[in-house]
Amino acid sequence: MIFFRKKASWEIPESEVTDYKVYQNRRQFLNNSLAIGLAAALPSTSYAISNDQVESLTNLEKSSFSSDEKQTPFESITTYNNFYEFGTSKESPSLYATEFPDRTKPWNITIDGECDKPGTYDYHELIKPFALEERIYRMRCVEGWSMVIPWVGFPLADLIKQAQPNSKAKYVEFTTLLDPEQMPGQNRRVLDWPYVEGLRIDEAMNPLTLLSVGLYGKELLGQSGAPIRLVVPWKYGFKGIKSIVRIRFVEKMPMTAWMKANAGEYGFYSNVNPNVDHPRWSQAKERRIGEFLKRKTLMFNGYSEQVADLYAGMDLKRYF
Ligand code: MTE
Repeated sequence: MIFFRKKASWEIPESEVTDYKVYQNRRQFLNNSLAIGLAAALPSTSYAISNDQVESLTNLEKSSFSSDEKQTPFESITTYNNFYEFGTSKESPSLYATEFPDRTKPWNITIDGECDKPGTYDYHELIKPFALEERIYRMRCVEGWSMVIPWVGFPLADLIKQAQPNSKAKYVEFTTLLDPEQMPGQNRRVLDWPYVEGLRIDEAMNPLTLLSVGLYGKELLGQSGAPIRLVVPWKYGFKGIKSIVRIRFVEKMPMTAWMKANAGEYGFYSNVNPNVDHPRWSQAKERRIGEFLKRKTLMFNGYSEQVADLYAGMDLKRYF
């Protein structure tokens, strides 16, 4: 990843990081104060989050895969992001993705390639048949920070079963929207747009692999990858491609955006592995956002029981 030295949210004292309820109340307070002209008297922490424009997601099943660790505050999850389509700094996505996606335009998702039921679907129609669950997952970024996020979504396996991949489907390739008008970062050649990611078909079918449409019981905000993004908790965060418009079944390993940018640093598998360092830094420890001391990174981000079998016999130094 490209590094820019800006103040990170884990550098904000814990006392300043609010939880979701407090945040909502403050939002209400901000709205009220703005209405009566007190804006100038407020501290400069009035984040440009358009939380009011998203819907609540109710009647969620609680998944048994959930972690019971302390959840990262909503405010940190939605203001400390990587979404290069909106700029390369951590705060850019929360500042510039507030109107994304343009909700006056339909959001279509194409499912194609090696499957028996290809098609292009309206996002809302596509997700309708699937029961949404809450999954609280540990997430580990390759840059060395981690969060605990209460995602809302459904297993990618459910959608794959519906698409009926054929025997040639060895991998699944995912593509983000290409639209430099809505995503100004695509006017800069930071990556070879559109952002592309991929999984081996058995990784994609693993029950932990989620298509997420929300977090903290609300639809995703633009910066988190609205309307739908991938979540693969045992892999580094960059596998979690945002704002997906295409899911394609393929025979050959897809070339991902990060492999194109630097194949020596970002491999296809990108499993969290404290024993295999990134060429430029160690992966042994991580800083949980909101905590001061680093903690040890766990193999497969602590999900070995569910996923270690997928890599039995593989040299994980070679297939990093
Ligand atoms: N998806 C797209 N389309 N563009 C991106 O720049 N960044 C990735 C991943 N998905 C990215 C993306 C990286 S590097 C990380 S760490 C995670 O999104 C960050 O997700 P978060 O901002 O929700 O924490």
